[in-house]
Amino acid sequence: MRTHQSNCTEILLDKELIRQKLNSKDISIQIFEDIASTHDFKNFSPINQTPSICLAEQQSQGKGRMGRSWHSPFGQNLYFSCFYVFEKSMSELSGLSLVVGLAVISTLKKYDCSKSPLIKWPNDIIYQNQKLAGILIETKMGTDGLCKTIISIGMNVNMIKEAENLPDKNISQPWTSLREIQGCYIDRNDLCAELINTLLEYLKQFEQSGLSFFMPEWKSVDLLLDKPITLNNAGHTISGIAKGINAQGLLLLELENGDLQAFSSGDTSVVKDFFSNKNSS
Ligand code: BTN
Repeated sequence: MRTHQSNCTEILLDKELIRQKLNSKDISIQIFEDIASTHDFKNFSPINQTPSICLAEQQSQGKGRMGRSWHSPFGQNLYFSCFYVFEKSMSELSGLSLVVGLAVISTLKKYDCSKSPLIKWPNDIIYQNQKLAGILIETKMGTDGLCKTIISIGMNVNMIKEAENLPDKNISQPWTSLREIQGCYIDRNDLCAELINTLLEYLKQFEQSGLSFFMPEWKSVDLLLDKPITLNNAGHTISGIAKGINAQGLLLLELENGDLQAFSSGDTSVVKDFFSNKNSS
């Protein structure tokens, strides 16, 4: 435990406290006080197939999707990366990032949020229109036929707007944290153990049954479903009505001409004044 400049007593991450609560002991955990990015942690073992977790109290170059940065102040949030090996081909892993999103939601449901957090495709975890967590995944096919993945999760846990001075300082979009939602300090060691247990359970299930098993769960937390949205990808913007995902986890968009098209990547936003725009044009 340590007292921070903000006079708030922080419980720091503790490997043993996390370990005690894990369902499987066959997991390696490393915790850094300060690291550029847990996502780039180079000592993830390429031979050993047991999951390895890298955590940090702070990241100096935290990164988000689409080249964005990830605000990573000391001792407040979860900066989490898991090295995981699949005996699968790359194509069989499509949908993985959505399943990781579901594991994060399931972890958060163990906390008492009055409304359920939702997922904005592909994997933004949103609570009441504010970002609560984000996911970054990298996959590489080894010459041994195994698919090596780095599954990273950034979760806003104890960061509070009052202490950050400005509501969205250093963060490009509206955000919230578990502490803002719950109104109390969260023990990140408990949360982290819960996240590891849930994530590994979801990954096992995904390996056995694929994305199809998770379709009903996805539908129940799909923030975009049946909403007018825009999809931005590499400078292109496409508008349509979101119609869920296909069997590969691609986003289905009903375009203005009625065609249904599947998209594999991009940034999505709900269009709030879609109908008034249509009426006025
Ligand atoms: C997003 O843009 O929504 C993805 C954010 C991912 C942030 C996490 S924090 C742990 C890991 N290390 C990083 O530098 N990024 C990911």
